[in-house]
Amino acid sequence: MIKIKTSREIDLMRRAGKIAAAARHYAGKLVMAGATTQGINQKVHDFIISHGAVPSFLGYNDYPASICISVNEEIIHGIPSLRTLVRGDLVSIDIGATKDGYIGDCAATFIVDEGDFDSERLVEVTKKCFYEGFKFAKVGNRVSDISRAIQRCAEENGFSVIREYVGHGVGAALHEPPEVPNFIEKPRKKADPRLMPGMTLAIEPMVNAGSAEIKVLDDGWTVVTADGKNSAHYENTILITRGEPEILTFEGEIL
Ligand code: MF3
Ligand code: CO
Repeated sequence: MIKIKTSREIDLMRRAGKIAAAARHYAGKLVMAGATTQGINQKVHDFIISHGAVPSFLGYNDYPASICISVNEEIIHGIPSLRTLVRGDLVSIDIGATKDGYIGDCAATFIVDEGDFDSERLVEVTKKCFYEGFKFAKVGNRVSDISRAIQRCAEENGFSVIREYVGHGVGAALHEPPEVPNFIEKPRKKADPRLMPGMTLAIEPMVNAGSAEIKVLDDGWTVVTADGKNSAHYENTILITRGEPEILTFEGEIL
């Protein structure tokens, strides 16, 4: 059952979303040559706590850190470690913040110093894919209208979208129905819900430079490209309204 949020819940999600988005912005400033991914994790953890929230991912299904940091061919769910970032690394950072029982979930990919032309383009296209999907996040459309726009954007640019991990409803739980895939399933096997005001969704394109094939590493978490090519991720929590959708993981005035 898809949960339609009340105006009170939406207000709480806006607050959680602002903290998550501010933490993402802060994390981006920490991405630099010589930083360790564990160091970034610790600082972002402290940032979230200092804003009266808790990191949503810590302990979720036994996930052992506060944020996910996935470098280069790592797509998502990279576990922070002693790895030191170097110039040109693509660093995807995924952050959840829970405040007063509600969650903001967002992600972005940052490049250490600057990347080569293809890396910069992958990061830009992935963000664009989010906004292409976002345009369709309106009453009268279905979830698949978002999915189609994201897939088209990625593939038009010569990239691919993974199939095994998808966007999702989000609220008091990190993962709520519906699933928000970044691709269209043919033939369609799953329900394709209509978008309604008060739905809150995490739209999150995960875009590979090469093939869509993935592997999961032996740590049980880190998802990597099978061909070893780079991948990027961009995510916001959004609200379906009667008019234009709203980005809840938006860096606003309160912080
Ligand atoms: N933001 C991701 C998601 O929406 C990562 C959560 S996985 C976790 O699924 F286990 F690390 F929490
Ligand atoms: Co998510």
